[in-house]
Amino acid sequence: MSKTIRHLLTLEELSNKELLGLLKLASQVKKKPAKYKKALKGQALGMIFEKSSTRTRVSFEVGMFQLGGHALFLNSNDIQIGRGETIADTARVLSRFVQGIMIRTFAHKIVEELSQHATVPVINGLTDSHHPCQILADLQTLLEHYGKLKGLKIVFVGDGNNVSHSLMIGAAKTGAYFKLVCPKGYEPDAAILGRAQKESAKTGSSIEVTHQVQGSVKGADAVYTDVWTSMGQEAEKTKRLNDFKGFQVDEKLMAESPKAVFLHCLPAHRGEEVSAGVMDGNQSLVFDQAENRLHAQKALLITLMGKRNKS
Ligand code: CP
Ligand code: NVA
Repeated sequence: MSKTIRHLLTLEELSNKELLGLLKLASQVKKKPAKYKKALKGQALGMIFEKSSTRTRVSFEVGMFQLGGHALFLNSNDIQIGRGETIADTARVLSRFVQGIMIRTFAHKIVEELSQHATVPVINGLTDSHHPCQILADLQTLLEHYGKLKGLKIVFVGDGNNVSHSLMIGAAKTGAYFKLVCPKGYEPDAAILGRAQKESAKTGSSIEVTHQVQGSVKGADAVYTDVWTSMGQEAEKTKRLNDFKGFQVDEKLMAESPKAVFLHCLPAHRGEEVSAGVMDGNQSLVFDQAENRLHAQKALLITLMGKRNKS
């Protein structure tokens, strides 16, 4: 495998400078899309989906088209992975046809295995542990709104899940403060939390976890939430609905910080993790955030698959 191949499995693989560079490129791509319309001319991205998707699928597909390339939607039930072909063989074969592979799957080790055997860049489109592409768009949205990331206070009210993991890493790397407010038993992965805390100590912020909802949003610049039951956890839905009672982001909670913006990776469940009033209220940036998936991922695709990264 060529040493020059870069993948994006988690945000931890990017240096802090690279992350800020990607966000800068994302803003340029958004402002002047025509400048990049041939950036990936003739290139193809294979997109393997083992879980459902609206935003990730459409933004990668449209993004590749707008960069002069092509994307292939590969539902895992329709390709041979669904009938037992190994991840390693799939990686080797796809690498002969396409110039990049995006995968949305369950265990994070599947993406790692794919990247070990692919000879083209591999992008994590969500695993049970990480959702780095989402956080590129989130950081772009906050940067557009506040003109900076360093020193911002982000409060995530909800599950210590894939999105919260990637967000705490993104916050730590950009010097933003991050607080996760979750019910007992729904804390983030201890190893990921520990690494994010170590990184935040270097960039001058902090990453903390608390169980106390009331008062948690005071002074926040951004309040973020995500579904209580992630894809793959459907059997736990009833228990989770019960355990997360009191953790809804509603008007009363948002009133603790009237200047804060509301973010959600979507899809949202109004009446569960967020009230309809907050979701559709004037603090909400969720649809700008969703749009930025397109721009941030175009920047990522250019960075990983563009000419200057070819060996
Ligand atoms: N936020 C996000 O990844 O949305 P999809 O599941 O629709 O791709
Ligand atoms: N945490 C959610 C994010 C969906 C984009 C899930 O994994 O289902």
